[in-house]
Amino acid sequence: MTEGIPLADRMTHIDASGIRKVFDLAARLKSPIDLSIGQPDFDVPDAAKDRAIDAIRKGRNRYTVTQGDAELREAVAADLAREFGRFDGPVLVTSGVSGGILLALLAAVNAGDEVIIPDPYFVMYKHLVNLLGARPVFVDTYPDFRVRADRLEEAVTPRTRMIILNSPCNPTGAVLPAEDLAAAVAVARRHNLLLMSDECYNAFTYDSPFASAWPLYDRVILLRGFSKTYAMTGWRLGYAVGPAEIIQAMTTLQQYTFVCGPAPLQAGAVAAMETDPAQRIADFRARRDLVYEGLRGRFRVEKPGGAFYIFPQAPGASATAFVSRAIEAGVLVIPGGVFSERDTHFRIAYAAGRETIERGLEVLNRLAREAGA
Ligand SMILES: Cc1ncc(COP(=O)(O)O)c(C=O)c1O
Repeated sequence: MTEGIPLADRMTHIDASGIRKVFDLAARLKSPIDLSIGQPDFDVPDAAKDRAIDAIRKGRNRYTVTQGDAELREAVAADLAREFGRFDGPVLVTSGVSGGILLALLAAVNAGDEVIIPDPYFVMYKHLVNLLGARPVFVDTYPDFRVRADRLEEAVTPRTRMIILNSPCNPTGAVLPAEDLAAAVAVARRHNLLLMSDECYNAFTYDSPFASAWPLYDRVILLRGFSKTYAMTGWRLGYAVGPAEIIQAMTTLQQYTFVCGPAPLQAGAVAAMETDPAQRIADFRARRDLVYEGLRGRFRVEKPGGAFYIFPQAPGASATAFVSRAIEAGVLVIPGGVFSERDTHFRIAYAAGRETIERGLEVLNRLAREAGA
């Protein structure tokens, strides 16, 4: 770092030290058993690659309109209409769900506002809310990771602007049961709050049909993406739908920030949507079962209903200490404090081959045994 270059004050609100420590430790390992990665291990469907390459060759290399290519927006709208019975709102193509989260917060949240975030949470929410000078208000969901309406209700103040829900959840894999979702929406409705529903893992639900917040309330900002469903994390594509005023404001902000999603990749995403991820999802369900069964004998752990994460309690007083021992033993997992105000659990991402998962489980179980669990 160059001495004496002042950074903007807002940079003091962002702290990446937790995760950096993990990666520093991990960098010393020769061939780690990597259970830390939050992206699928399958490849982008061939049809999507072919369509994107074809689009590049045919010259679709210029800006698209800010809100995204009409073909992709129409495909998304048709998909949502199939799922919800009816859909006629505007669609904004975003730079991944991440882009949608940033634009939604910029469009809707003032400095000094409060945003309710169930804990554990996807890291970006906390840091972006802080960055805006707003205040994250955490609602504890331990030990079963259910979002309870009475706890949400208690967290509401006159400054509350928004509730963020993320089902299936990163890092817990928890899927909000329909009744909990309805109760959470009722809290938002009672106080006229916006509800940002991050559904980027909607395709990865294993035990019950996915329940979206969208049909329940007219102040939902629904964010979904292509990164996880089609393994396109590097394509940077997602979409946002919601109240027309919010989507309009997000579009204005996109005009002066991201400009548009990558043009040829938007063409590829349309082709991806024509493929069926069912086989890959079934494969992930089998891995979920493998990991859960492999842990539950020695760890306190909830069976996750979706995504590709599981969030067991670490034996001993500090999850960070347990994770350091795991990393020293060659297994990369993430301490729960990265995703939570507590340092009691750790995240395993099982988007890895069965053999890697099995080796990882063996080491984690041995460490738990040594810790007296
Ligand atoms: C809950 C959640 N939301 C959003 C994202 C960002 O995804 P994208 O690649 O679509 O920006 C992730 C990625 O890990 C995530 O876990």
